Amino acid sequence: MAIRLLLASNNQHKIRELRDLLDGDDFEVLAPEDLDVRLEVEETGESFAENAVLKAESFSARTGLLSLADDSGLMVDALGGDPGFLSARYGGKGLTDDNRNQLVLSLLRGVPRAKRTARFVAAIAVATPGQTTRVFEGVVEGLITEEPRGSNGFGYDPIFFYPPFDRTFGEDPGEREGQKRDVSHRALALRAAVKYLTGMQGRDILV
Ligand code: IMP
Repeated sequence: MAIRLLLASNNQHKIRELRDLLDGDDFEVLAPEDLDVRLEVEETGESFAENAVLKAESFSARTGLLSLADDSGLMVDALGGDPGFLSARYGGKGLTDDNRNQLVLSLLRGVPRAKRTARFVAAIAVATPGQTTRVFEGVVEGLITEEPRGSNGFGYDPIFFYPPFDRTFGEDPGEREGQKRDVSHRALALRAAVKYLTGMQGRDILV
C-alpha cells in the first residue's frame, strides 16, 4: 500500500522537486493545496533542522497526516556560512532571487575561485502525530560563480557551480542524465528519509 505523505511546503519549486523525487509506487504525495490547507509557519528556528521540524510538525498537527518538510539554504565559506538558514530572507524580505544572487556576488567581488567554496544544505523532517519527528540531512558542495548563469531551477541555482557537471545548477538540463535531481542536497536528504519511511512501512510509525 502506498504511504500517504503531505509535503509541508508552500514553495512550488520545492514541491515540484520533491514530487519528482518521490515519483513511484511507494508514495501517495499530497501538497497543501490538494487538501485546501493554508498554513504559513513562522521559521523561528536557528538551524535548518529546527525550521524543518517546525514546518513538518505544524502541518502534521493541522492535518493528522504524515508530513515531510524541507528547510534548506546556501552556505558560503567566505561569508562565514551565510546566507545559511536565512537564505530565503537574505538581504531583506522584499528582494527577488536575482537581487539576492547579485548581493552574494557583490560581497564576493575580488574573492579568488579557490576561496569561493560553498554548499547547499537541506534538512528534511518527517513528522506524524504522536511519534518522534525524524530529521535527515543532505549536502552538495560547489563554488560561487562570478556571474549568474542559466535560468533553470530557483533561488541561488544560477550562481552555484557544480564542478562534476561543469555547469551551474541554473544551467541544469532538467531531463537528461547528470542532473541536479540526482545529486542535490534535497535529493540526498530525501533519499535517506525515503529509506526510513519505506523501512518503517507496516510498522508502528505509519498508522
Ligand atoms: P526555505 O524555504 O526557508 O527552506 O528557504 C530556502 C531558500 O534557500 C530558498 O528560498 C532558496 O533561496 C535557497 N535554496 C534552497 N535550496 C535551493 C536549491 O536547490 N537551489 C537554489 N536555492 C536553494
